[in-house]
Amino acid sequence: MRSAAPAGHRAGDDAKESVMPRARMGFVSLALLLALYGRSVAQEASDPAKAKSEAKAKSGTKKAPRRTQRDAPGTYMGRRIADVMSYQGAEWLIRASREEEEQPEAMLDALKIAPGSTVADVGAGVGYTSLRMARRVGPEGLVLATDIQPQMLQMLAGNARTAGVENIRPIRSTITDPKLPEGEVDLILMVDVYHECTHPEATLQGLRKALKPGGRLVLVEFRGEDPEVPIKPEHKMTFAQVRREIEPQGFTFKEKFDFLPWQHIIVFEKPATPPAEATKRAAAKAKAVE
Ligand SMILES: C[S@@+](CC[C@H](N)C(=O)[O-])C[C@H]1O[C@@H](n2cnc3c(N)ncnc32)[C@H](O)[C@@H]1O
Repeated sequence: MRSAAPAGHRAGDDAKESVMPRARMGFVSLALLLALYGRSVAQEASDPAKAKSEAKAKSGTKKAPRRTQRDAPGTYMGRRIADVMSYQGAEWLIRASREEEEQPEAMLDALKIAPGSTVADVGAGVGYTSLRMARRVGPEGLVLATDIQPQMLQMLAGNARTAGVENIRPIRSTITDPKLPEGEVDLILMVDVYHECTHPEATLQGLRKALKPGGRLVLVEFRGEDPEVPIKPEHKMTFAQVRREIEPQGFTFKEKFDFLPWQHIIVFEKPATPPAEATKRAAAKAKAVE
């Protein structure tokens, strides 16, 4: 292993350390610790009561999607949701070995980001990828860099200032709402983030709304199929699992790149025509033929 990972991320680490400082752990009982396992940063970063009321307000009188009702706490479609990586481990995001391990420029080359476009780096952390995206979209373009942890966004803003980059807009999102402008985004990138989302369906619906028709959602995830990738299982995802979770939320699989040493690059598209519209049109066409 070439670099130190934040506790909880690298295979063999204790996942709880990534979200709860040791000193605090001394004060809670084992039962409370187990109950909080995997949720603490998300709760710190975003007031759960507020998140609950936001989700309720959003859904109005509609019932929650059935899928969520069937999932055991802390899991989604049979997968354990990973702990959120704390801002206290942010050094890991800028480790010297990361360029070799994740090849961020080659990853972005594959996406062919157009100058002048509006892109989002969702779960941007300290801006490792946002800064690179900002150079690619150029002065006419914009990077919307979101994160649920304000401390991450503060570090990101500092890094952008130091680099003299002015086309990044930091956005504090919540665990149920990405807080992106509706219908304005050409490409959404999530690098090592999706597996941490505590509310995948609400998040994906927000991302879908933010994309322009035909816009792309890109997940970069550590390969769950590959036991050689030295990352804890819950911080990895298989291609099959990604498709199973993303497509029912109104995205179409477009392409996948597997040239990175450890990660999949999986590209989805928001269909240019909403599925309901497409179905209506197909029905009308079929009737006309009768
Ligand atoms: C492993 S870090 C990756 C950071 C960055 N993408 C990078 O590659 O350097 C995961 C980040 O995702 C953020 N995150 C987790 N859940 C999120 C959500 N639902 N919405 C936005 N950000 C989230 C965390 O706060 C953390 O900063």
